[in-house]
Parts: sequence; C-alpha cells; structure tokens
Amino acid sequence: MPFPVNRMRRLRSGNLIKEMVRENTLSVSDLIYPFFVDENATKKVPVSSMPGVFRWPLNLSVDAAREAFELKIPAVLIFGIPKSKDAKGTHSYGESDVVQEAVRRIKAEFGDKLLVVTDLCMCEYTDHGHCGIVDMKTHEILNDETLPVLGKIAVSHAKAGADIIAPSGMMDGMIAAIRSALDENGFSNTPIMSYSSKYASVFYGPFRDAADSGFCFGDRASYQMDPANSDEAVRETQLDVEEGADILMVKPGMPYLDIVFRIKQEFKMPLAIYQVSGEYSMIKAAAKNGWLDEEKCFHESMISMKRAGADMIITYYAKEMAAILSRK
Ligand code: PBG
Repeated sequence: MPFPVNRMRRLRSGNLIKEMVRENTLSVSDLIYPFFVDENATKKVPVSSMPGVFRWPLNLSVDAAREAFELKIPAVLIFGIPKSKDAKGTHSYGESDVVQEAVRRIKAEFGDKLLVVTDLCMCEYTDHGHCGIVDMKTHEILNDETLPVLGKIAVSHAKAGADIIAPSGMMDGMIAAIRSALDENGFSNTPIMSYSSKYASVFYGPFRDAADSGFCFGDRASYQMDPANSDEAVRETQLDVEEGADILMVKPGMPYLDIVFRIKQEFKMPLAIYQVSGEYSMIKAAAKNGWLDEEKCFHESMISMKRAGADMIITYYAKEMAAILSRK
C-alpha cells in the first residue's frame, strides 16, 4: 500500500493545473479606485504618508479618473477637500462645492463608461474634523442633528451625477435618512453603498493627512465601531440592510477578514472591502525597505479579501493591480 494515498501536492505541480483548481480570482471589475480632489490645490500634491497618492486639483480631476478608466477599472470613489471648513461643514453640499464639481466634470467626460461613487461624510468639511454636527460645549457629536445634513449632501451628490452614494460617517439612522432624501428628490434609483461595519481604526492615520481631516478634540470612537467586536458588526449591518443599503462594506480590510466572512455568510449581499490608507502605507514602507515584494504583497492581500467573501475592493493599489491583471 503506497503511502500517503492523498497527496495534496498532485494538484500543485504546475501553473496550468493550479489555475484549474484555483477557487478565487481577482478581476479588474472587482476594483474601485479612491482619490482625493483638493479645491485648494493648483497642481498634483503628493501625500507624504502615502507614496504614489496625490491630492488632485479640480482641473485635473478628470485626468485622475482617466487613469483608472484607461485601465478598465469600473469605478472611482471621490473624496473632497474643500477650500474652507466651518463648524457645520456647509461646503459639503453646495452645488459648486468640490465633490459636486468634480463629479460633474468626470461624468461629463466619461458618461456611463465609469461609475462615480462619492464618499459622504462631514469630517473633511468641518473645522473640528468630526463626522457630524457637534455640541461645542459638551463635544458630543449630535446624531439626529447630523442626519438631515447627510440627506442634503447625498442629494447634492446625486444631482451632480454621482452613480452611487457611499456614506461613511457611522451615524445611527443615516441610511434611512439618506434613502428618503434621495427618494424625495427623484433619485430612488441611486444605490447606497454603506460603510456598514466601519471600525474606529488606527489604520486610517495616513488618510487623515491625505484628506486633511484630523480632529481637534477627542477621536471617532464614540461613533465608529470597537475593533474588539464582531457580533456588533452583524447588528450594525442588519440595521443598514433594513434601512435600505444596496451594497455593504467592511473597513478596514486585512485586519477584518473575519468580519468580511461573517457579513457575507449572514447577508448574502454585494459586499465591498476597503483596504485603507494604513494598509497601503505599511506595504509601501516595507517594500521601500526591501523587506517585502510590493506586487506580491498587495496581490496576496487582495486575493485573501476575495477568499473571505468580498465582491469589491476599494484600494489605493487599484491602478497597479489593474495593470498586473491586464498583463495576464
Ligand atoms: C471619512 C472616511 C475616512 C476614511 C474613509 N472615509 C476617515 C475616517 O473615518 O477617519 C478612511 C480611509 C482610509 O484610511 O483610507 N469618514
């Protein structure tokens, strides 16, 4: 009796057979490319904590989108940095504010050939840097006062031409508020991609540089989720589903693959994962030191996201990944 009978290595003996038995694949249609449009910038400004990432001036926002479009990436996710900030984030919903303007230009250029997703949050627009209206005496982030503002921002994005609205502020009831604002204004067909399980994560550090959205007091732990919790993610997500979310999201990515797995199993809905700024910067830093192979590293991290159950990956590596996929 030869031993062992079961030899797992039989199916690992060459690339062709490996491809035949491969369970998960990455495709360019999985990718969403996030970028920052800065109303103050007159040229591309490098983000020092995220090598290869820029703040794009409005007049180059179409070029930023074109880079993704030419690589056949189906969607971009836009963040805005406004010219000026105030306590109530009033530059988040004006017809010619930064995101609205960028969306209008990008849609005018690419029409139906590129999906424009807009991040909907107040933190880039408030001078205190929090994701909502704040009681300045108590420093409380006021949930219910924030909801109508989120509705207003959503409608302004949709009017500018946004294809998908992606609220990331973690206010309770935000999906319902945004859904009804959109519906009341004739946008009942605009989908909502909810940042449904968004953790209060240290991995957002470099983003706060990039989007100039650091806060002047406290942190976001009173509204974003505790990294120690997993059942809570199911409950958070359940509420968003009931309120009308079309696409769910887990954020950050790699440290939260267990959550991705659970949410996919539980809800069987389209699911995005966000490989956040800190994950990107860690790979960049290690690669720069020669400690990791950059390409293999982001490839492996993304295939693990697919394996966990993600359908879509929001990543600052989207262009590099798409370029690799087009070589194959
Ligand atoms: C806005 C928002 C943040 C990120 C996406 N949307 C920052 C935050 O919540 O602090 C982080 C993205 C990243 O780190 O790449 N609320």
